[in-house]
Amino acid sequence: MTAHEMPVAKAKTNPNLPHLQPDAQPPVGRPGGPDWWLMMKAFLTQGKKVASCAPSSAVMARKMIDGIDWDAAKCIVELGAGTGPITAQLVQRLKPHTRAVVIELDPMLCARLKARFHGIPNLDIIQGDAAAFDKYLAERGLPHEVDHVLSGLPLPSFPKELRGAILETSARALSAHGTFRQLTVMPLVYYKMYSRYFEDVKFRFVPWNLPPGGVYLCRGFRGVGATAAM
Ligand SMILES: C[S@@+](CC[C@H](N)C(=O)[O-])C[C@H]1O[C@@H](n2cnc3c(N)ncnc32)[C@H](O)[C@@H]1O
Repeated sequence: MTAHEMPVAKAKTNPNLPHLQPDAQPPVGRPGGPDWWLMMKAFLTQGKKVASCAPSSAVMARKMIDGIDWDAAKCIVELGAGTGPITAQLVQRLKPHTRAVVIELDPMLCARLKARFHGIPNLDIIQGDAAAFDKYLAERGLPHEVDHVLSGLPLPSFPKELRGAILETSARALSAHGTFRQLTVMPLVYYKMYSRYFEDVKFRFVPWNLPPGGVYLCRGFRGVGATAAM
């Protein structure tokens, strides 16, 4: 049996978008190899920019979107989507009135995302830099107010200026009740760092990930001055 003939688990469909069949599974045949191999290659060639040699687990991805009010959310932005484990959770819950914008810098990983999540009208997949996401929203005439920013970016390994720029862009775009959510595989290690940027930081531990990790749930950006002083 070749890879093309192998049965693929039936993708979950979104009950809110029944006309769509979002392919929540990697595409059959997967040109370029399986997701773990694409991530490994990206990690080996780009090191700290990718900072992970495997996609996040589904448990981790579900924790990232836990508690989102899907009826209220109008715009959700995902930064550093990789091969799309969080995007897969997102598209299963998106309502027709919610726009999701997914940004990935690496062209190879972005091509995987586009192949995997094609044909979803309220999902935009953009190959670009997370620091410029407000520009991408404006170019597409999308709402300036973002309800949630989901970041899989390896922010702690970024230069301070880039990290600050991404957090400031996110904070400027977030609505008053918006959240900035940051994935980590080093539980609580960067709690202090995120607390310098945000007034309210909660940590959700995810033991069932390899390695164990979690999600920082951040609200109330402290402002440009606070980060400049760091
Ligand atoms: C740790 S991986 C996380 C991938 C995925 N979210 C997951 O959970 O499996 C970080 C991702 O951020 C992407 N990335 C790094 N710098 C970026 C930037 N400036 N803008 C957008 N994506 C970036 C990398 O290419 C990589 O796919």
